[in-house]
Amino acid sequence: MQNAKLSEDGQILTVLSDNGSALRFHAIWLRDNAQDPETRQPDNGQRLIALRDIPDTIRMSRMDQDGSALTLTFAPENKTVCYDLGWLTAHTYDRPSERTPGWRPDHIKLWDGRLAGAVPAADFDAVHSSGDVMRNWLSGIRRYGFGKLAGGPVESGALLKVVDLFGYVRETNYGKWFEVRTEVKPSNLAYTGLGLQAHTDNPYRDPVPTLQVLYCLENSAEGGENMVVDGFHAAERLRQENEHWFDLLSRHCVRFEYSGSDGVFLRSRRPMIELAPDGEMIAIRFNNRSTAAITDVPFDIMQEYYAAYRRLGEIIDDPAMQVSFKLEPGESFIVDNTRVLHARKGYSGAGSRWLQGCYADRDGLLSTLAVMETQSLEAAE
Ligand code: FE2
Repeated sequence: MQNAKLSEDGQILTVLSDNGSALRFHAIWLRDNAQDPETRQPDNGQRLIALRDIPDTIRMSRMDQDGSALTLTFAPENKTVCYDLGWLTAHTYDRPSERTPGWRPDHIKLWDGRLAGAVPAADFDAVHSSGDVMRNWLSGIRRYGFGKLAGGPVESGALLKVVDLFGYVRETNYGKWFEVRTEVKPSNLAYTGLGLQAHTDNPYRDPVPTLQVLYCLENSAEGGENMVVDGFHAAERLRQENEHWFDLLSRHCVRFEYSGSDGVFLRSRRPMIELAPDGEMIAIRFNNRSTAAITDVPFDIMQEYYAAYRRLGEIIDDPAMQVSFKLEPGESFIVDNTRVLHARKGYSGAGSRWLQGCYADRDGLLSTLAVMETQSLEAAE
C-alpha cells in the first residue's frame, strides 16, 4: 500500500511505500504530466497544452487518496486531475543524480567472445511466421546490438526482406543496398579482398546509419570470416583501465570524411565515444579508413589522445573481445552500428564471396519491438 502526502506550500507531493521509500514530485511536473483529456488527446496520447498554458505559480491546493487513485487540485487553475500511484512510481525521477560516465540502460548487456554460443539467432521463415520468435530475436538485438538470421533465400535483394521485418531501409549514395565483393577499381576498400579492422560503418554521415544488415549470397572463398565486437564493452574496458583516456575520447571530437565516389564529400565531427550530457553511453564511432586529420584536440593533449586512441584499438583487436563466424549463403547478420563494430578477414584464391549490405534505423526496430511487447503483455493479462 502506498500513501501520499502534500508539502505545506503545495509544491511537493511525496509518495511513501511500505518498504520505506519516499518518491517526491513537483507540482509543475505533475501538472505537466496530467493524463486528463484536456491535457492529453486520449486517442493519440499527444499533449494538447504547452508549458506556457500552466501558470508558473502552480501549486497543489488539495489531495484526496482512494486506494491507488490520487486526486490533486491545482491552484490557481482550480483544476482537478486524477493520477495512479503505480504510474507515478513507474515514472519516478527522485534518484541520486550522479551516475558513472559511460553508464548504460539496464536492457543493454555487455558481451565479449564468450557470447559466441548465445548469439541472438533465428530462422528466416520462423521470424516471418511466429510473433514470439520475432519478438525474442528483436529483443536479443536490443540487448546485444547484434543478431543473426539463417535460412533465407539465396537471391539478390533478399536483404530487404530482413529490413521489412521491422522497419525501413536508409538509402544512401551507395544505393538502397550495396554489393560487397571484389571490384577491379573499388570506390571503397570494402569492395576488395583486404581484411578490414573492426569498425562502425559510415561515421562520416550525420546522422550515422544506426543499423546495418549484411546478407551472404556466396561464400566459397578461402577466408572472409566476419567478426563483431561490442564497442560499448571496449569503451567500458578502457574506462576501467584508464578513466582519463576514456574522458579524452569522449570529450574531444574526431573528423570523419569520405569522398571516394564522384559527387560525394561527406564529413562529420563527432567523438569516438559519444556520451549524453548525463554520461549515458550513446554511440561508438571507430573506423581507421575514414578518420580524417584530427584537428579538434588541443596541442598539449594530442600525444595522450593518440595513446588513448591506440589503446581503444588494442582492446577492439583483442581476440577475447571478438565473436567470429563464416556466413553461409542465405545467412545474414544485423548490427547496431552505433555500438557493435564489425570486421572481416581477408580472402583470396579459388571460389567467390558475395555479400549484400544495407542500412536501416534502430528506432524503427525498437518501435516494432515495443509494440510487440505491449501486445504480448496485454494478451497475458
Ligand atoms: Fe563495414
